[in-house]
This record gives sequence, structure tokens and C-alpha cells, in this order.
Amino acid sequence: MAVLFWPEGAIVNKREEISSILDKCGISLDFWPVRSSGRTATLLDEDTLGEEEKEAILSEQDQYFAQLRASHGYMARDLIVIYPGMPGLSGLLDRFLPIHYHEDDEVRYIVDGEGVFGFVLPEGSQVELLVEKGDFIRVPRLLEHWFRLTGRRKIKAVRYFTGTAGWVPVYTGTPSLFPPNTSSTA
Ligand SMILES: [Fe+2]
Repeated sequence: MAVLFWPEGAIVNKREEISSILDKCGISLDFWPVRSSGRTATLLDEDTLGEEEKEAILSEQDQYFAQLRASHGYMARDLIVIYPGMPGLSGLLDRFLPIHYHEDDEVRYIVDGEGVFGFVLPEGSQVELLVEKGDFIRVPRLLEHWFRLTGRRKIKAVRYFTGTAGWVPVYTGTPSLFPPNTSSTA
């Protein structure tokens, strides 16, 4: 379940309190149980997955995709798999650590592992949100945010898209209020 951190070190665990903070900038946060059979439960623990194995995990979560397609018009989904020692990992993470926004919503459903989203709130303060297995998050288009891993450096997340073109980060140059090279959760 998600946990929210303020730069000064305060921690918010209560779901309603987290939602009231995130509501201010239009972020949706839900908890959906991850569905798995015997085989996919094993696959979810693996570091690397082939395309067929990813599809097996994705298809088991497709009732959620169907809901999102009906409610928000999402047309595509894929599974991003990140693990310690993954080739190109630091370059990938460097793309998403500086504060940025996207022209489309960033929609993620965490099915394994954990990661940290950061957000710039409307009044200029910033928060970080630890997301874990079962957390679904929709970051609205144009909202300044960032993403990093925890010390586990492992996450699997379903990404939902309104088009197949995906999205690119637009960097804003806004400085982070969180100390560099430290982690609230690692
Ligand atoms: Fe992003």
C-alpha cells in the first residue's frame, strides 16, 4: 500500500489522508489486488520475462484494462520490467528522475516490486509517494513529477496508453526539494 513522504521527513500512511493531498493535483490512486495463477505468481517473482510471459501476466489483469478502456479510453497496455543489474538501467532511470511532465496521463499499475513517484503540488511544495504491488496511479497530463526506484531496484508495472505512440518527458528544470542521492525508503 502506498506511503507518502514530505521533504522534511513526515510520513503519511492513511489512505484517505494521502488521497486528499493527491486530489489537489488531480492524481488518482487506487488499490487493485493483483491477479495471478500458480504459473504467473512464479513469473511475478522473476527478474526477467519473455514476451509470452509478460502477456500471461498482462492478460490476467485485463479486467482492469477493460474498465479503463470504458471509463477513460485507454487503448493499449504493456508491462515494464525493471530489475537490479538490468542493462541500460541507469540511463533509463536518469530519464525519469529530473522533474518533468507529459502531454498524456502517466498511468501505472504496480504488479510487483516498488518505486517512488514525486509530485510538485499546486502551492509549490513537493511530496514523494512509495507505490507497491497492487497500487494503481494516474498522474494527469502536464503535472510536474519524477520517478525513481527504491534500494530494491525492482519493479514490474503495467503501463496504459490512450494511443500506441506512448509519451516523452518534457523537462521543466524545477529543482527537487528532496535531498539528492538519498531515499526515503531505500
Ligand atoms: Fe513521467
